[in-house]
Parts: sequence; structure tokens; C-alpha cells
Amino acid sequence: MRHATTVGCLLVCGALLLLVRTTPAMAWRPWPHQRTSGSDLILGGSKKYEGSSELIHLKYHMGPILTANITVYPIWYGTWRKAQKKIIREFISSISALRPKRPSVSGWWRTVQLYTDQTGANTSRSVRLGEEKSDRFYSHGKSLTRLSVQSVIQSAVTARTRPLATNPRGGVYLVLTADDVYVQDFCDNVCGFHYFTFPSIVGFTLPYAWVGNSAKLCPGVCAYPFAVPEYMPGREPLKPPNGDVGVDGMVSVIGHEIAELATNPLVNAWYAGQDPSFPVEIADLCEGIYGTGGGGSYTGQMMEGPDGETYNINGNRRRFLVQWVWNPVVGYCAGPNALDQ
Ligand SMILES: *[C@@H]1O[C@H](CO)[C@@H](O)[C@H](O)[C@H]1NC(C)=O
Ligand SMILES: *[C@@H]1O[C@H](CO)[C@@H](O)[C@H](O)[C@H]1NC(C)=O
Repeated sequence: MRHATTVGCLLVCGALLLLVRTTPAMAWRPWPHQRTSGSDLILGGSKKYEGSSELIHLKYHMGPILTANITVYPIWYGTWRKAQKKIIREFISSISALRPKRPSVSGWWRTVQLYTDQTGANTSRSVRLGEEKSDRFYSHGKSLTRLSVQSVIQSAVTARTRPLATNPRGGVYLVLTADDVYVQDFCDNVCGFHYFTFPSIVGFTLPYAWVGNSAKLCPGVCAYPFAVPEYMPGREPLKPPNGDVGVDGMVSVIGHEIAELATNPLVNAWYAGQDPSFPVEIADLCEGIYGTGGGGSYTGQMMEGPDGETYNINGNRRRFLVQWVWNPVVGYCAGPNALDQ
């Protein structure tokens, strides 16, 4: 059976790859099952338990990973409420929590720390929140292209008042767009991406990610399972852990992008697949998997708070739902809320 589906994949997936390549290289969609997910592309539908498969050849391509202390610099593009910023900040500052309540955000990051570079150094354990910049007045309009996201970063690092530091040693720039901002390909399979800036635009090569608030544009695509797409009538959305469908949905995408940035910042380190312009990275392999048994259209076992909120990890003061990432040691998707942990 496995063999048959694999052969089928050679034909079908080849055609799909051609289609998918028209979307940006570093794209992500948490609800891919209508189309194909990263691991589907490689596995051709033969995916079994929690993404595990001997067919996945996640490889190290000799480039750098983020081994120095990581500092995340958020750039709030457009109108953001204080309460929304707080949720995202607390997620980022929980990644390196010292005495976390299990299962924890820092337990989730431990899987990312299993990746090493050619010197044998691991991905940094330390992720901290750096300075922030607000771009309240939409300096580059309400519709951004992939390239203009770099211009937003350029504006932030060259601002006349309190410019963001340019930190090529462990700096990660996180452009977060408000719910009234459209970014090229947003919603059409793309909820976030990561890449690195070009010296010709920003003056430096800095790893960065963009993640958009999908609350108004496409929550069923990018904030699943807190919103449900129209083509799934009858499925009830789950209650978000912090009461904000768009922002709670963003947290999982932010986790996805930071995990991939840390292990593939210049897109020449850890990824699977033959095609460097469509790398399948450590979080792509686990799209839509939040707990034990996850895979296909099933999210896996999650947890429920006192008011019915759905989550899978604890932060310092809040709970979050974040997708799992690929564990290179055991060869399947893993997270701290796994039932065998
Ligand atoms: C570093 O990576 C190696 C290889 O995956 C792993 O065995 C080791 O536990 C990692 N170290 C830390 C501190 O995570
Ligand atoms: C990295 O961060 C840790 C604390 O998280 C700190 O003790 C250490 O000095 C930092 N290292 C550098 C090189 O900044």
C-alpha cells in the first residue's frame, strides 16, 4: 500500500509542486488539509502517526543556525490593542522561562534546541524579547508585498526616533500586521513566512518573519481551530485560550516561524525536499498537529481550561495553543504535551 501511494505521489505531487511553487518559498497555512501540507508533499498521503515516516529526509545543508542568544524585535504594523500585544509578548517571553509549569512553552522549544550546526553547536536555548517598534500609521500602506515587508523593517531600523537596533548576531525581526492589512498571498495558503533581509533594501542581512492577524480576512484559514472554514459546515470552532481568535491563532504561526528561523535562518541549514526554493522545514512537517495522535484532519489531543478554552502549553502567565515541530532525534513530530512525556 505504502508503495502504491508513493508511486502515485510521484505523479500527483510533482504536479502539485509546480502549482505550489508560485506561492512564496517560506509560506505556511495551519489548515492545509484541503490542499497539501509540507509533509503530504513528501509523503504523498502515506503519513501515519504524528507525521512519522522513514520517507522524510530532513537534511542539514551546512548553513548557520541561530546558536547565539536570540532577541526578537516585534514591529507592530497598523493598529494594535494593548491586550493583543500582551498576549504575543508573553508568548515570546515564555520560551526561555526558568521554572515553567508543564507542559510549557519552553518544553516546546526544547525540540528546536535539538538541531545543531556544523560546529556541533545547538540552537540557542535563550530567546528574549527585545525593543519594539510601532508603525501605527501604516508607513507602507495597507497592502504589502513580500518585498515591502523588508521596507517596513528598513523604516524601523532607520527611524529618526528610537530606531530598532540592527543585531545580526541572534536578532530576529518580527513584522506583525494588524487585521486590516493585506500581505501578498495572505489567506491563499499563506499565514506567515520567514526569510532574511537584503542589504540593498535594509542595509544588513537580518533574519525576519512576517505573521498577519487574520481575524477579518480569513480566520478559518489562519486561525484554525479557533475559526472554521466555510467548507467545513457543522464543525464547531474551539475556544481560544486568550479570548482573541486572531491573536491566539497568530501565536501558533509565530511559534512556527521562529522555530524555522532558528534552524534555517538563511534557508541553507535544516530543511527537507529537493528544492531550495520550496524548502520543507521543521514546522512545515507538523502543520496542524498539536498533540498525540494528530495528523490528517485531526489536531491531536489538546487540553481544556476551566472555561472550555483549548490549549496545549503553559506560558508564564497564560496558556497557548502551538503546533508541534519535528524532532530530529526520534524522527517524528513532538511536543511537551505528548501523552508519553
Ligand atoms: C544538542 O543537540 C543534540 C543532537 O540533537 C542533542 O543530543 C542534545 O541533547 C542537544 N543539546 C541541548 C542542550 O538541547
Ligand atoms: C545568553 O543569555 C544567558 C541568559 O539567558 C546569559 O547568561 C548569557 O550571558 C548570554 N550570553 C551572551 C553571549 O550574551
